[in-house]
Amino acid sequence: MQKINKKGNSKWIWGGILGLFLLGGAFFYLSKKGLSKAEQTKAVELLNKVLADEWFANYQYWLGSKLAKGPMSKEVSALFTKYSDDEFNNANKIVDKILLFEGNLPLEPKIWYEISKCGYSAPIDTSTKNLLEQAIKREKCAVEFFKEITDFIGTKDVEVLKIIQEISDMQNSHITELQNLLELVQH
Ligand SMILES: [Fe+2]
Repeated sequence: MQKINKKGNSKWIWGGILGLFLLGGAFFYLSKKGLSKAEQTKAVELLNKVLADEWFANYQYWLGSKLAKGPMSKEVSALFTKYSDDEFNNANKIVDKILLFEGNLPLEPKIWYEISKCGYSAPIDTSTKNLLEQAIKREKCAVEFFKEITDFIGTKDVEVLKIIQEISDMQNSHITELQNLLELVQH
């Protein structure tokens, strides 16, 4: 009787091992499969939206660094100058991926308005408080959008996923620093 049980148990163990092996194999296959042609087209569309957002962010930070008035204006200006560079570098990383997928780039800045996810907020009010609030709002919008992209890409393209996660982490650290500075401006 014990022998039969032992045989039965080992059957289950081997079955389990085989199951795990197949599951691991399927996961490995899917993660290496990459994006299909249709998915690449969708990825290009999403990455172009990010690109438009990065250019808007780059310009808004640059403009803000020149126009900031009021409490902590020197600090805001210095931070915005750095962030303007950060967003430019992000735009570079995104462009490389779009070209890798043989996607088209927006040839006119006016297209940014049509495809941008987070839009452009003109710094009409140049107070440091307003500039920081506008920047925080935009960064939060970007982070939300990155979640959408991450869900879409999944593990199908680890390279794109890595870039989006890196940029998203950077935007999150921007949000923290902007919020810290806003608190100083308000007190
Ligand atoms: Fe940012």
